[in-house]
Order: sequence, then structure tokens, then C-alpha cells
Amino acid sequence: MSDKKVIAVLGATGAQGGGLVRSILNDKSGEFSARALTRDINSDKAKTLAASGAEVVAVDIDNEESIRKAFNGAYGVYAVTFFWEHFSPEKEKAQVQSIAKASKDAGVKHIIWSTLEDTRKFIPLADNRMPTLGDGKYKVPHFDAKGESNKYFTEQNLPVTFLLTSFYWENFIYFGMGPKKGADGKLTLNIPMGDRKLPGIAAEDIGKSAYNIFKKGNQFIGKSVGISGGHLTGKTMADSLSKALGQEVVYNAVPFDVFRSFGFPGADDLGNMFQFNHDFSDYFCEARNIDFTKSINPELKSFENWLNENKSKIPLE
Ligand SMILES: NC(=O)c1ccc[n+]([C@@H]2O[C@H](COP(=O)([O-])OP(=O)(O)OC[C@H]3O[C@@H](n4cnc5c(N)ncnc54)[C@H](OP(=O)(O)O)[C@@H]3O)[C@@H](O)[C@H]2O)c1
Repeated sequence: MSDKKVIAVLGATGAQGGGLVRSILNDKSGEFSARALTRDINSDKAKTLAASGAEVVAVDIDNEESIRKAFNGAYGVYAVTFFWEHFSPEKEKAQVQSIAKASKDAGVKHIIWSTLEDTRKFIPLADNRMPTLGDGKYKVPHFDAKGESNKYFTEQNLPVTFLLTSFYWENFIYFGMGPKKGADGKLTLNIPMGDRKLPGIAAEDIGKSAYNIFKKGNQFIGKSVGISGGHLTGKTMADSLSKALGQEVVYNAVPFDVFRSFGFPGADDLGNMFQFNHDFSDYFCEARNIDFTKSINPELKSFENWLNENKSKIPLE
């Protein structure tokens, strides 16, 4: 039997967890082994992970007993929740509470919790610059629920690192945020960031950074670690997209209210998120220092590098 330390990875078939599992598996002589957690151990993605050497184990993060079993014997846990599967901050909080309890019961030595800011500490609910959402309880539900959930780890004195992630550049491929063709046929990048900078990252770099945080042992336990591969304005991103795609992409600094009214599920949440990112851009970038990220993940990609590898996947509708 392997004497490697097991890291149980939630969302192993997804963006964040997938990057971490691949990092562990690529480091053949490393001290860790990957336990890939998924709802469906028979999916193609799960089978690919198993074929690459991961131990694939079933989990449902709505079921605490299932999480406890999945964490059994693990040294480390990568904790991530999946807001866009259900759009419910209450559900997300309950899931994190279960993850924290199960980590304690399993005696996990290091948890990395993929969290975000509780924006209500910056913009109180009574502040009318943006609408209050989620039954009057949140400003940016998918941020606030994660930030509020930090307490489930701290209240139990768990050995946790709070990982503050950034906007994935993959959102230009899979999340409907890529350049859109206007009536004049021109490609437009519609992002409500005015002229402020938005920290972004190649999704795979989140898992790579997390792996290196696990490798540092106790160094980051009890700490918040913010990561990003670039702090870019909408105009800079549009210029880089123009160069990479070989056709002009114009930046459209959509007003926050217009973005919130786009009508797709979660448009109001994302409109508030961008307004928070815009209004607190200096703080938000400082909390996600690029040089620091490079120091823990020397392979960190810039936006240009990411574009060179991914430009053909960006749908240009
Ligand atoms: N997009 C961004 O720019 C961005 C930036 C920062 C943070 N985030 C946050 O990232 C989180 C999502 O992480 P991701 O992008 O890595 O996810 P993802 O790529 O969308 O993957 C979704 C994962 O969820 C797993 N999953 C869904 N429901 C589950 C359940 N009940 N039990 C166990 N596993 C379940 C799926 O695994 P199976 O199908 O195999 O079970 C899959 O691996 C969200 O909460 C979002 O707020 C996103």
C-alpha cells in the first residue's frame, strides 16, 4: 500500500479540483496521492482521472455522511462548492458546514477552502448603491455565502487555508462572457468594470497553486491566500483578445444596472459582483498579488499565454 498522504479533492471533475488532481498526479515522486471525489464514478471524466492514477470515490456534498466517508483517512481536503449548480446561498452554506464537520470527524490535517469575500463587510445591506438580493440577505450571494462560511472552519479551530480565487479567463469560453457580435458585426466585450482592473486567472492555475500550498505544510494554515495571474482592465483584455483572435474586439463598459437586467439566471448576482470588484478594485487586486502567486506557482500563466493556448475555443457568436 502507498504511504503517500491522501488529498481528497471535491469537484475533481471540474475546473478547480481537476487542476489540483492533475498537479498531484503529475508529480509522480511527490508525497501526496489524489482521491478524486465525484457524484458519478462512472462518468467519462471520472474514468479518465482513474486511468491517470487517481483513487476515484463517490461523494454527494448534500449528504454529510457521504462526505465523512469520502474524507476517511485523508491528510488533506480541497473544499470547493458549486454555487451555479443551484444558485442557493443557503444550500452553499449548509454544504460548507457539512464539509467542515466531516473534516473534523476525519481528523484532516490541512483543508484548503476555496472561498471569496463576504461583500456585506464592504457594502452593508442598507447601502443602496446596489440591490439587495436573496430574500434581503445578500449583496453578492455567491461571494457572501462563501465568505460567511469561513466561520464553520474557524469556529472549530480547523487547520484551514482560505484560498481567495479570481475570475477565470475560461469564463470567456464556458460561462457566456466572451466577445459577442453586435448589430454592426463588431465583436464587443461586455463587462461592467469601467476602467478598473479585474484580477483574473487560468482556472488550471488554481489547482496548481493549491497543490503548492499543500506542499508548504503548515506555512499557510490559518492564513488567507489570494491568487491571480493578471490584473487587467476591460480595455486591456479586449486589446489582448483582438491581437489573439486577429479581429477587433471593442470593450463595452456596460453600466451595472444594464448588466443586472440582462435576464440570464444569476445576472443580478454577477452584476453586483462586478460592481463590488469595480468599487473595491484596489483592495480586490491587492488581496490577489501576482508576484506572490508566482512565488507559490512558478508556472502561473499570464492572460496572453492563456489566450495563445485557448483562443480557438472562444465562441464568437
Ligand atoms: N467562474 C469563475 O470565474 C469563478 C471564480 C472564482 C470562484 N468560482 C467558484 O467556483 C465554484 C465552482 O468550482 P468549479 O468552477 O471548479 O466547478 P465546475 O468546473 O463547474 O465543476 C462542477 C463540479 O461540481 C461537482 N458537483 C456538483 N454538485 C455536486 C455535489 N452535490 N456533490 C459533489 N460534487 C458536486 C461536479 O462533479 P461531478 O459531476 O463529477 O459529480 C463537478 O466536478 C463556484 O462556487 C464558483 O462560485 C468561480
